[in-house]
Amino acid sequence: LVRTFAPRSQKYCKNYQHHLNPQASYYKVAILGAAGGIGQPLSLLVKMSPLVSDINLYDIANVKGITADVSHCNTPAKVIGFTGTSELADSLKGVDVVVIPAGVPRKPGMTRDDLFNTNASIVKSLIEAVADNCPQAFIHIITNPVNSMVPIAAEVLKLKGVYDPKKLFGITTLDVVRSNTFVAKKKNLKLIDVDVPVVGGHAGITILPILSKTRPSVSFTDEEVQELTLRIQNAGTEVVEAKAGEGSATLSMAYAAARFVESSLRALDGDADVYECAYVESNLTELPFFASRIKLGRKGVEAFIPSELQGLTEFEAKALEALKPELKASIDKGVAFVHKQP
Ligand code: NAD
Ligand code: LMR
Repeated sequence: LVRTFAPRSQKYCKNYQHHLNPQASYYKVAILGAAGGIGQPLSLLVKMSPLVSDINLYDIANVKGITADVSHCNTPAKVIGFTGTSELADSLKGVDVVVIPAGVPRKPGMTRDDLFNTNASIVKSLIEAVADNCPQAFIHIITNPVNSMVPIAAEVLKLKGVYDPKKLFGITTLDVVRSNTFVAKKKNLKLIDVDVPVVGGHAGITILPILSKTRPSVSFTDEEVQELTLRIQNAGTEVVEAKAGEGSATLSMAYAAARFVESSLRALDGDADVYECAYVESNLTELPFFASRIKLGRKGVEAFIPSELQGLTEFEAKALEALKPELKASIDKGVAFVHKQP
């Protein structure tokens, strides 16, 4: 099953034999917002990971039922539930990877930025607890708007004196997963082999699939590029509208988040060949945060892949310039939120 998370036989995603390694270590994962639409299927998928020894499920809503339910799967990971803020600190002790899908999702007609007011406070308080209890952990932020939530997390961690930019990730894996799916279908390619890097951020035009760098190499007409780019940028809205008020993507998001968790654990475990796209502190552009392909290692971001931003098509180069003002505004809004707090 783990093999399905990423293309096989590609430079950037390979070698799941690793999981058969009897010397592999085992890691502790916490999911904050575990009772939600993403949190529940993500808990199940993480329970299936051969690299996980413990899963801590935290939510302000009751997680007892979910904990009992998931814990009955006969895989090794031990599952413990933590409900309410009084149990938050304990849910984070000794944790290697913290995944945060806590917060409200969109309804039709809303932008991700419309979630800012509610979700900023949630992320701020959760990151404060992460800083106090597991400052060395990899932090995966799913909560929207990701473009602003990651800068908020960075500022909170800085104020706490524990910011490690290599270990803070905005999760954009779903954009890659969607791009791979849509491109494979459009070009009649074997899905498991397709790999499209997606850069920028995670909202509207800030989501920029670099179709010219698709693996395997494939050519697109101008119309195909426009159509695919728009579909990838609007895919979240496509789900929000189809769910008609019942929330946003949860199952495909859980799948994408589980892939990023698995990649993080492989990196922590010493696999030297782990690559994912993520929204991180970056100097690839003039923006302080930017999503791009990164190499993951034991200490988090080990390297960037600048070649994927070189030799862009005219369409991609223009789209890259066009997304920068919106992404910058979202970053500034997140930073300002932390500093205007009493
Ligand atoms: P949901 O409403 O189903 O679940 C959210 C959960 O968070 C609930 O169980 C709620 O009790 C919990 N929660 C709220 N405040 C909390 C707090 N302070 N501490 C702990 N838990 C808290 O929503 P969902 O569909 O799971 O989506 C969650 C978030 O993920 C949304 O902001 C959504 O926009 C975002 N999202 C991001 C991506 C992405 O690609 N990054 C994809 C899909 C959804
Ligand atoms: C997505 O891309 O599906 C998420 O960001 C959720 C949303 O609001 O679209």
